Amino acid sequence: MESLLKEWDGETTIISYDKPTGAWIFIAIFSTRLGPAAGGTRMKLYSDFQSALQDALRLSEAMTYKFALSGISFGGGKTVIAIPRDFDTQSRHALLRRYGEMVQKLGGLFYTGPDVGMSSTDMDIISETGSPYVFGRTPKSGGAGSSGPATALGVFSGMQVACEHVFGERSLNGRRILVQGAGSVGGALIEYLRRAGAVVIFSDVEEKSICRFRDDFSLQCISADKVYSVECDIFAPCALGAVLNNKTIPQLKCRVVAGGANNQLAEPEDAERLRDRGILYAPDYVINVGGAMFLIGMEAQDWTQENVENKVTEGIQTVLQQIFELAAAKNITTEAAARQVAENRLSFAR
Ligand code: PHE
Repeated sequence: MESLLKEWDGETTIISYDKPTGAWIFIAIFSTRLGPAAGGTRMKLYSDFQSALQDALRLSEAMTYKFALSGISFGGGKTVIAIPRDFDTQSRHALLRRYGEMVQKLGGLFYTGPDVGMSSTDMDIISETGSPYVFGRTPKSGGAGSSGPATALGVFSGMQVACEHVFGERSLNGRRILVQGAGSVGGALIEYLRRAGAVVIFSDVEEKSICRFRDDFSLQCISADKVYSVECDIFAPCALGAVLNNKTIPQLKCRVVAGGANNQLAEPEDAERLRDRGILYAPDYVINVGGAMFLIGMEAQDWTQENVENKVTEGIQTVLQQIFELAAAKNITTEAAARQVAENRLSFAR
């Protein structure tokens, strides 16, 4: 744990052990240079304490770049709630309320929203004690609801720019696109893609999503063990992190990776591995900012649905284009280019 924290370049980490449930809560605040830190709350089972802490630290850094690149005046943070193996779901409500109290005590240093393992209903609960520092409540409780469709719109828009860069045209018509994870982001993305005439194939582990897209939409469903070796134009990771690694990258048969999941690269070298294979990678924190823009825009900046859609589309396309051009001109990876642009904006704000 010591080395993880020593190597991390962020500002503050708050670690709390929730005695009644045995859960660990990590609130990582990477940067408040552009404003109070904001980032989702992720709740899941981790193999160990280290990997939970590491997830929070890395994700908070990505949030910082995400906001810097999208022009939203927030810094970056993230919470990981690592639940124990024998977690009693009955105690979930009370745990979320205690976590809301922690957020409240930070007094506006950190704002949160949903992430993996969290729903709008959970945000309602956290907000009972954590208000007004909670984004993404249900519409019934005054929030903007699910951010999945807005994230998907951003990914969809980013794919068009990636296609232009690689194939010379923005259109996704006829492109073969593999969506990994057909949940709230992947599912909405599939609908955008179908409307644009793409040939969509997908993979998922949840029976409900499989039935919906395979049986009702007649889409080809790829089994989890084949997902990295299927031939396609674009691979869109919309489920887990670390799916791009030294085992999967050599198998890929796509030209573009562009998806909604956070932390897609297992380690920094994976950006080079992708480039060496001639695969254009749309950095995750650039292309998946649509959800955060939607929640913050609708709930804190008085944007309308239409404002959000325009800003998500234009914002992501402009930045992504800039990143692809910079990467090509300087012969660096798109990940390195994204970092340069983000660091630039961060230092400008100092
Ligand atoms: N978890 C989301 C993300 O990673 C959404 C989010 C972040 C929502 C911050 C509100 C605030 O972008």
